[in-house]
Amino acid sequence: MHMENKKERYTITAALPYTNGPVHIGHLAGVYIPADIYTRYQKAKGKDAIYICGSDEHGVPITLRAKKEGKSPQEIVDKYHKLIKESFEKFGIAFDYYGRTSSPIHHKTASDFFKKLYDKGVFIEKESEQLYDEEAGQFLADRFVKGTCPKCGYEEAYGDQCERCGTSLSPLELIDPVSTITGSKPVLKKTKHWYLPLDKYEDWLRQWILEGHKNDWKPNVLGQVKSWLDDGLRPRAVTRDLDWGVPVPLEEGKGKVLYVWFDAPIGYISNTIEWAEKTGKDWKPYWQDENTKLIHFIGKDNIVFHTIIFPVMLKAHGDFIVPENVPANEFLNLEGDKISTSRNWAVWLHEYLEDFPGKQDVLRYVLTANAPETKDNDFTWKDFQARNNNELVGNLGNFINRVAVLTHKYYDGVIPKPGEFKDSDKEVLSQLKKFPEKIGHLIERFRFREALSEYMNMARMGNKYLADEEPWKKIKTDPESVQTIMFITNQIAAALGILGEIFLPFTARKIKKIFNIPEKYSWDDVSQFDSSLLPAGHQINKPELLFEKIDDETIQKQIDKLLTTKKQNEKTMYDPLKETIQFDDFTKLDIRTATILEAERIPKAKKLLKLTVDLGFEKRTVVAGIAEYYSPEELPGKKILVLANLEPRKLRGVLSQGMVLMANTPDGKPVFISPEEDVPNGSVIS
Ligand code: MF3
Ligand code: ZN
Repeated sequence: MHMENKKERYTITAALPYTNGPVHIGHLAGVYIPADIYTRYQKAKGKDAIYICGSDEHGVPITLRAKKEGKSPQEIVDKYHKLIKESFEKFGIAFDYYGRTSSPIHHKTASDFFKKLYDKGVFIEKESEQLYDEEAGQFLADRFVKGTCPKCGYEEAYGDQCERCGTSLSPLELIDPVSTITGSKPVLKKTKHWYLPLDKYEDWLRQWILEGHKNDWKPNVLGQVKSWLDDGLRPRAVTRDLDWGVPVPLEEGKGKVLYVWFDAPIGYISNTIEWAEKTGKDWKPYWQDENTKLIHFIGKDNIVFHTIIFPVMLKAHGDFIVPENVPANEFLNLEGDKISTSRNWAVWLHEYLEDFPGKQDVLRYVLTANAPETKDNDFTWKDFQARNNNELVGNLGNFINRVAVLTHKYYDGVIPKPGEFKDSDKEVLSQLKKFPEKIGHLIERFRFREALSEYMNMARMGNKYLADEEPWKKIKTDPESVQTIMFITNQIAAALGILGEIFLPFTARKIKKIFNIPEKYSWDDVSQFDSSLLPAGHQINKPELLFEKIDDETIQKQIDKLLTTKKQNEKTMYDPLKETIQFDDFTKLDIRTATILEAERIPKAKKLLKLTVDLGFEKRTVVAGIAEYYSPEELPGKKILVLANLEPRKLRGVLSQGMVLMANTPDGKPVFISPEEDVPNGSVIS
């Protein structure tokens, strides 16, 4: 462990969001709010902390989104970068810098980083065969290729996944692959790539994380690291055959780019460099001084990249520090379902801002109070309403309003001089001074839900004190004691304004305005004040409501919106209808009834069965991709339909003379179609 500096330095990052769509509540709850609270806290404590983020603008999903919208990738990232950046700003996410990975400084930084590892001989070079589209002159990674799923027979499966059965695939596994770029049939072509030998760093990772951080990293993070390490790491390709990304800075890397997960985390560094250039600072201490604490806020799907791959890159490079902590959150669900961009199952921030103008802190509050810190959590509109009405309006808003209103009513808004403190008064003041440490301690351990709940306890304490003391009664019987009560409640209100800044920045600003709280106050002043934060004689401003109740109708509208989405999604579960054809097109198909005579497996083809079928006028061999669903023994005797005039084709060395027609069940199982009454084999279907 190293010595602590006078002014501790923190480099705080939040995962760079992909720029292929807007951001939603899951993003905010999982990453950007906790990191925002953490940074605001460190700054309030006087630390030298910076909060760095930006758009992740490379990767295949962006190029596909571009294709879908008929735009260029650059147009797509420009559009979403702007939207995302604005959403964050409007929610008070106080980045010191929000950059983008398409920027020239990023390209240079990522490129130099790669070159340095290359020059140090870190990479392994390997050639392998990949699908290649000769017409487009391009290799087909992931979603650039479609074909039949070897598992379920779905004909529109992508190179990385079958969307019908969910199996994750590699492009080479697809049956009859076609390029999604030109529709042509790809060929196999050799290509060279550079691999980061993660396996060589296993011992170091074990030592550094599983030993060195076993007590301060979150269990969910340690758990994933341990399971990756126990499985054994393998070299990982850090280049891709694509044209959207940071070009590989090598002569033999022409036409290739850095893998998006190689360049994106370097974005944290390049964005710090851009921040430093704009502010006239030196970026280096933030990434190279051993005393700097580097903290990565991420969602759980990013753990391996931030605990293994990026740290190995940093370590291999040699000039950089590695993270002090990687607080990863679990996922936030929405009304019981996984949030999904493609299914439009989300509360989008830009839409929330339209539907609930000025209520950013309500969402910040609910998402923090219900943050998926240790397990997946559910966002529901009913819970949102209840927390707003009961906790924000009923507790915090109510307290602030009562103090401001009573101070005006009794003393024209001037804080009165207190009398002698009773034990209960002293107790409240001493409790008040303990909150900064309690809350701070929780934040330092990334327990934001509990920290927020402590903050709310401060308001609760104030409300209880008012209820116990009943100044509205005592004003007639014992006016001097009311001076003390109102003096003390004004101190609590001031503390709420000062400490609230890290959780609810918009509300805190309002509280500061109402109570005319001097800007100079910071975190430690709340635990250290002598007689007061706001002295007797201090003039406060007019009361202003912090929150308002949200009614059932407003909430129902949001729920209805989601129900509409759900209905639309159910419709799209069905494959879209194919193009209209003419009757003549149909009559070209020669479909016949048949009976299966024999069935046998085909060596080395897990999915295929060779069937001998009786078409009445002749016997034929037909190959069907059903071996995972049917055993050969159960098939002889089955009546089936066969497309009999399909051009014969060789499949795994067997000539297939036709195709068995089958229906697909929702879970992807193919089932035979047979005539309802017995008809001779070879009967025509028309
Ligand atoms: N874009 C990635 C995601 O949304 C996160 C990238 S984080 C970084 O999952 F480290 F690569 F920047
Ligand atoms: Zn499938």
